[in-house]
Amino acid sequence: MENLHQLLLERHSIRRYTEQTISPDDVRTILEAGLLAPTSKSARDWNFVVVEDREVLLKLAECKKFGTAPIKNCVLAIVVTSNPAKSDCFIEDASIAAMFMHLQAADLGIGSCWIQVRNRYDEVGEPAEAIVQETLGIPADMPVECIMTFGYSAETRRPVDPDKLLWEKVHLGRWSDVQADGE
Ligand SMILES: Cc1cc2nc3c(=O)[nH]c(=O)nc-3n(C[C@H](O)[C@H](O)[C@H](O)COP(=O)(O)O)c2cc1C
Repeated sequence: MENLHQLLLERHSIRRYTEQTISPDDVRTILEAGLLAPTSKSARDWNFVVVEDREVLLKLAECKKFGTAPIKNCVLAIVVTSNPAKSDCFIEDASIAAMFMHLQAADLGIGSCWIQVRNRYDEVGEPAEAIVQETLGIPADMPVECIMTFGYSAETRRPVDPDKLLWEKVHLGRWSDVQADGE
């Protein structure tokens, strides 16, 4: 898509996918987007674990109580980790990389969804992060931010209506209860 703003209006979290696989070139382009993401002090100390194996995806889907359905039916998951020993902005760094991949996928016509791992727990209270680390051999000192799921969309989402944006969240010059109108 040539127009970033149009992409942002049309982007959604996509949670249901067809069985169509994603080409290696497109997987690479998505990963390239993650590697292009800006990081504090240019630390670039994230790691991305690429998972396509169905058994492993099903195991990852058990990492927390709610909100893992997309992992069960996606064709690709990218687990995003970052390194607090290398950056005090590790959460921000990981988040931005995840979002870059989400937007890159949308631009390729591929749906994706962020699955929160940090601060989430499974049925018996075990941290989702520990389950993901153990499943994928991720070192215990590498926090897992999220699992990004990818696949061709099996759902229809409408573009956002720009008239419905929350312009009351925008404060002009200083905090105020007077609403900006977006013009
Ligand atoms: C930090 C963060 C955590 C999220 N965690 C989950 C999740 O665990 N499971 C899920 O299905 N969606 C998750 N989402 C997707 C949000 O639910 C989604 O972005 C939100 O409902 C708005 O929908 P939209 O992305 O289509 O605009 C997460 C999104 C963000 C940014």
